[in-house]
Amino acid sequence: MRNVNDITREQWLQECFPEWGRWLIEDIEECEVRPGSFTAWWLGCTGIWIKSEGNCNICIDLYSGVSKTTHYKWPEGHRGPNFQLGRIAGSNGIHMNPRNIPHVIDPFQIKQIDVFMATHDHADHMDMYSTAAVLKLPGVPFVGPKFSADKWRGWGVPDERIIEVKPGDVLHFKDVEIVVLDSFDRTALVTAPPQGSIVGRFPGDMDERAVNYLIKTPGGSFYHSGDSHFSDYTLRHGKMYDIDVAIAAFGENPKGISDKITASDVLRMADNLGCKVMIPVHYDIWPTFYTDPHEIKLLYDYKKEMMEYKFNLYIWAVGGKFTYPDDAGRKRYSYPRGFDDAMENEPNIPFKSFL
Ligand SMILES: [Fe+2]
Repeated sequence: MRNVNDITREQWLQECFPEWGRWLIEDIEECEVRPGSFTAWWLGCTGIWIKSEGNCNICIDLYSGVSKTTHYKWPEGHRGPNFQLGRIAGSNGIHMNPRNIPHVIDPFQIKQIDVFMATHDHADHMDMYSTAAVLKLPGVPFVGPKFSADKWRGWGVPDERIIEVKPGDVLHFKDVEIVVLDSFDRTALVTAPPQGSIVGRFPGDMDERAVNYLIKTPGGSFYHSGDSHFSDYTLRHGKMYDIDVAIAAFGENPKGISDKITASDVLRMADNLGCKVMIPVHYDIWPTFYTDPHEIKLLYDYKKEMMEYKFNLYIWAVGGKFTYPDDAGRKRYSYPRGFDDAMENEPNIPFKSFL
C-alpha cells in the first residue's frame, strides 16, 4: 500500500490527469460503425470526433489546452485592447476563464486518425499539445484555413503535413468527402492581427481566418459550424447541401458582448440549414459563457408547431457518443449506466431482504 507521505504534486498531476485517460479513445477504437450510419463524439467546446463506416477517423477542433488558471497573469492578447472580446466590449476587464470541462481525450494516446482539422485559430479550437501529439503520428494531415495553417507552421509543423483550405475546396479521406464552406464568425474578424486600433479599418478576408466544414460520410453528413454566428447565408448552405446533423456554438453572452449565438439563433440556424438534427455546443467550456442548453428546448417546444420545424433538437454531454441515424430522434444524451449483468449472478450480501 502506498503511503500518503510519499505522494507529491507531480504524482497527482501524472496520475489524475487527463481526467478521462484512455477511456474515450478506447470507446472510439472499439466502436464498429454500422453501414449506413456514422458515429460522432463530443470532445468539449466545438471538438468533434467523427468515425465513418469505412473506419475514417476525423478530429475537428480538439482543444487540449487549459486557458487562464490565475486572476493575475494573463497572456498577452487574452485581455485588453487586442483581445477580440475586449475589442467588442471596449473592455479591459478580467473574465472568469478557466477551462470548465475535463479533458476527455489524451491526445498522446491517439493511435489512429486520418485527418486533424481546425475551423479557426482561436485558442479553444487548436493548441500546441494536441498538435504535438498528432504530429508524432506519421502522415496525418493538418487541415485548416490560412490563419490556422500559419499557426501550425509557427509551432513547427512541416509544410508537407499541412493542407491549407478555403471555402469551395473538397478533400477526400477513405470513404469521406469534406467540403470546406464559408464561416460566419464575426468575432474572428475582429481578432488581432492587426494589433492596435481597428476603428474604420476593413477586416481581413474571413476565408483566411475561419471556415465551416461539411463532413459527408456514406452514412450521413455532419455540418461543423465552428464559432459561426447566424447568417442569412446559412440558408445558402442549407439549399446547397443535404445536412443531417449540425452543431452551433451556443452560449450566454456577458452584457455588452455578442459572441456565442443565442437560443433563438440556434433554432434559426437549424431551420435555415434544413438539417435533421441540431446540437448546441461550446456553452460548456467557459464559465463566462456557461448556460443551460434546455433554454433552447423551451423555445423549440414553444415555436415548433408555428414554425413547422422539421429538425430535432438534441442536447449532448461532453464525452458522449451520437450515432446517426440511430439517435436522430432522441432528445437528450445519457451516459451509459453500466451494470448490464446486474442480478445475473447471486449478489454477495448478508441476506436477501438487505436489498
Ligand atoms: Fe470558440
